[in-house]
Amino acid sequence: MQASQAEERKEVLKDFFGGREEDEVSEDLLTHLIQFEELMLKYRSAIREVTTKLEILNDELSAHTERNPIENIQSRLKRPYSIARKLNRLQKPVTVEAISQNLNDVAGIRVICPFIDNIYEVAQMLLKQDDVRLIASKDYIQNPKPNGYRSLHLIIEIPVFFSEGKELIRVEIQIRTVAMDFWASLEHQIRYKNDSPKAQSIAAELKACADTIAQTDLTMQKLRDRILEE
Ligand code: GTP
Ligand code: MG
Repeated sequence: MQASQAEERKEVLKDFFGGREEDEVSEDLLTHLIQFEELMLKYRSAIREVTTKLEILNDELSAHTERNPIENIQSRLKRPYSIARKLNRLQKPVTVEAISQNLNDVAGIRVICPFIDNIYEVAQMLLKQDDVRLIASKDYIQNPKPNGYRSLHLIIEIPVFFSEGKELIRVEIQIRTVAMDFWASLEHQIRYKNDSPKAQSIAAELKACADTIAQTDLTMQKLRDRILEE
């Protein structure tokens, strides 16, 4: 770890414990860690609920029509350090309460579909369910980001039942084609964050790749439609 990273990490930890140094915090540390673990368990449970919903839809459609609207489902819990960093960025206190109050992407699910129209089909089937509440959606397919990024983003809230009752938990869902996912994964690795002429030229080429991929997605969908016509 670089020295600056270590310093930043120490600051974040200090924030988490109300500005006190590490050796003063053993009691509080335990309470906070237990609360944090309990909250993460809730997000993990919500991921399981939504993943099961998606798997059921996919199983049902593949049994009826021999086509899979979903190619692959991935999920992740945001890491503690990323949680703290995002709360800092939002200028919120780094506390357990602030996590559920301010962050919508602690529980994240990525759904990879074969074709563009599967994305909207999957989103619609999920949002039709009466225990799923849509909090926000961003359609970066109709409106790609300036860098070329494409995906459909949904923030949903679902009830999860625990021994003490029901809790509403938020989950971020990103739905994209195999091709869009290919671009997003690689772009994430080669993101180049400065304003030099070299960076600008790389950004332009990445954008061109995204546009080519979007065109290929459309062509593949048309090819599938021609086969279905027969
Ligand atoms: P965050 O604070 O980063 O969550 O951004 P936001 O709240 O404005 O949400 P947005 O919908 O723009 O992005 C949420 C997530 O989508 C990110 O955490 C990434 O996983 C993904 N994403 C958004 N833009 C890009 C991009 O340009 N490239 C890649 N590879 N992923 C992106
Ligand atoms: Mg995010």
